[in-house]
Amino acid sequence: MDKIRIVGGNRLKGIIPISGAKNAALPLMIASLLTKDTLTLENLPQLADVGLLQRILGNHGVDCAIAGKRPGETSDSGRTIHLTAGEIVDTTAPYELVSRMRASFWVIAPLLARMGEAKVSLPGGCAIGTRPVDLLLMALEKLGARIEIENGYVVATAAKGLRGAEIEFPKATVGGTHTAMMAASLAHGHTVLHNAAREPEIVDLAACLVKMGARIKGAGQSVVEIEGVGSLAGARHAVLPDRIEAGTYAMAVAMTGGDVLLQGARADLLQAALDALQRAGAHVGESNEGLRVTRDGGAIAPVDVVTAPFPAFPTDLQAQFMALMTRANGVARITETIFENRFMHVQELARFGAHIRLEGDTAIIEGVDRLEGAPVMATDLRASVSLVIAALAARGATTVSRVYHLDRGFERLEHKLQGCGAEIERLSGQE
Ligand code: UD1
Repeated sequence: MDKIRIVGGNRLKGIIPISGAKNAALPLMIASLLTKDTLTLENLPQLADVGLLQRILGNHGVDCAIAGKRPGETSDSGRTIHLTAGEIVDTTAPYELVSRMRASFWVIAPLLARMGEAKVSLPGGCAIGTRPVDLLLMALEKLGARIEIENGYVVATAAKGLRGAEIEFPKATVGGTHTAMMAASLAHGHTVLHNAAREPEIVDLAACLVKMGARIKGAGQSVVEIEGVGSLAGARHAVLPDRIEAGTYAMAVAMTGGDVLLQGARADLLQAALDALQRAGAHVGESNEGLRVTRDGGAIAPVDVVTAPFPAFPTDLQAQFMALMTRANGVARITETIFENRFMHVQELARFGAHIRLEGDTAIIEGVDRLEGAPVMATDLRASVSLVIAALAARGATTVSRVYHLDRGFERLEHKLQGCGAEIERLSGQE
């Protein structure tokens, strides 16, 4: 297993290219199951989760071909993938694969819509709370599916196909909205989703589905309307830039001080987080090249945030913002409302000398003058990168173990940070 070693203290200065969004790439790849034609996705990030999903889709019969680099493309250019589900050879998604990544459960929707049946293992993924799938299954049932749970698998059937329905989500769910949009696109008749999730990745999936011939209105708003069609066709679509990756590096710059251009990042995708960063003392400017984040020598101000569905402050940046607040000149409160138990980074941040107290769903962070490097362990994807942020500002060396969590969601992290002057290296094959 690899480790990452960081010696803190350097200010970040330079350019960081922002990759395609993991959380958009995954549902877009899954949408290839909806058509026998080829779906081409550009700007695909190179991540462990993308590789795993290729295997899962391959198991269903999807032919996945990564296009070679064209002249002028660098290792920072996103890749292009051609996905062709000419024939679905297997409608079962096995435990061995699904248990490693929660989003792979979403294959249930296109398999069911196209084949009338799907058998998908109950999901796994990051250990951040119970993360049930009851709302995804409720939506599929409303669309006419019969759902049974057998030996840890969800067995969904719709012998006569799915039919449009009114679906009211009691809680906004990203996965529920993705799966309902995919299933309803091939259902007979009209579907209305109430209290749909409004995340940019929902809008990106809807845009791609529309290119494939789906009839979807309102994606990005609470009410989404879908008119089912008989079949969908191939399309070409570029994955939107990763707002969580951009927000993470913005927080790293705010932490160390410096001046970094986040190439390709878009402010409209992460305004709430940028507002919090500006209140903390960073400057953010937008140009057609991306976002430029700077912080000079001034102190980091304490800022309270509450995570909530888009457009509010994202739960996927909560751990990173907490790392920043460990160095604030005062007390900050961070409240997590999306996932219970998403505070596993707190005990690891304490190893750097951070002062953090938990009160229910709120972390109270009392800023300290200095963090000290320490051996720490990654616990989940976003938590692990918060340890990198703390390490970049800590005195001395930090080793982060279990970095496979980072590799799930951050493309070439150590190269991107090295390029901006950070002292960071991967120690391959270390226990
Ligand atoms: C997606 C993102 C994840 C992000 C999360 C919230 C991907 C691949 N993952 O996860 O990075 O942190 O959105 O922005 O895009 N819930 C239920 N029942 C369900 C489904 C969800 O109770 O059937 C609850 C969850 O436990 C959670 C809340 O709804 O409390 C939101 O979860 P959801 O939006 O579904 O998250 P994911 O789609 O799993």
